[in-house]
Amino acid sequence: MRGGEADEGRQVIVTGDRPTGPLHLGHYVGSLRERVRLQHRHRQFVIIADAQALTDNAANPGKVRANVLEVALDYLAVGLDPKVTTIFIQSLVPELAELTMYYLNLVTVARLQRNPTVKDEIGQRGFGAAIPAGFLCYPVSQAADITAFKADLVPVGGDQLPMIEQSAEIVRSFNRIYHCSVLVEPRALLSTVPRLPGTDGKGKMSKSLGNAIYLGDSEATVRDKVRKMYTDPGHLRVDDPGTVEGNPVFAYLDAFDPDRDGLEAMKDHYRRGGLGDTVIKRRLLDVLLPELETIRARRREFAGEPAHVMGMLREGSAAARAVAARTLAEVRRAMQIDYFST
Ligand code: TRP
Repeated sequence: MRGGEADEGRQVIVTGDRPTGPLHLGHYVGSLRERVRLQHRHRQFVIIADAQALTDNAANPGKVRANVLEVALDYLAVGLDPKVTTIFIQSLVPELAELTMYYLNLVTVARLQRNPTVKDEIGQRGFGAAIPAGFLCYPVSQAADITAFKADLVPVGGDQLPMIEQSAEIVRSFNRIYHCSVLVEPRALLSTVPRLPGTDGKGKMSKSLGNAIYLGDSEATVRDKVRKMYTDPGHLRVDDPGTVEGNPVFAYLDAFDPDRDGLEAMKDHYRRGGLGDTVIKRRLLDVLLPELETIRARRREFAGEPAHVMGMLREGSAAARAVAARTLAEVRRAMQIDYFST
């Protein structure tokens, strides 16, 4: 933690999402719930990373544009409060692009090519030899997102650890080369909740795999998706012993069922045999539907007032811009390019 902060004990948190699709239960369990909890204790900035989304969607600006509002609605629906969390649109803070420009000088191409998450993504997207330079460099732009607000903590899942590492390296290089302590080294706040599997039980929940339950899904859709959920293929008859590990229904119950003792008893019963899949799915719906209904109701309310939501993003972006501009002024001074500032 940094010393001498006005609000001691409060740390700066920066997180965000690329607006490429609506958010789902995996996002909710993995990060959104945590952000709602953190927002009252810390100073939180949440980025709708449209510029980052464009690094692999240059030809699909309409998709990015449409999802900025969708993601904002998801944020408000889960209970992020714009009075305490600064929610903003990345491209409306051009200081981030300028910081990126300077940070690019502190990073080698070889280092960028080693980033394991970017490597995976390059493979998934099938860029071949035609990797957009902006895509390869997005971890540097993410370092700008993080450092512009002097984030102490970045809550992330495991796949984002290389980004935090890269950001910390940039901070150390910058402060060393320019003999200053302008930038703050961020730390990852690694999510302790295991990543939610998809409804098909194959890997993580994701839009591209078509195994996601969305925060905006109707009750009927959620019921249908849960009914079709993968369980334990060896659990053919109710009396057969079942497997809890790797069974996505239990993974979801772990994430949502407040009755922990009841859940443990159910797991024992399932393992012994005699507990049917329909029973565990019914329990899942009992705990999931009310929580989703609260989210859905709030989402509907905000969705009815898109101008209000965009206004909130505009204000958040102006507030974020003011903070980023202060950091940029310090960065320019350290780099001796503060020609006409007083
Ligand atoms: N890379 C993040 C993702 O894909 C989104 C993101 C952009 C982000 N800027 C950030 C996350 C800064 C944390 C901090 O989800």
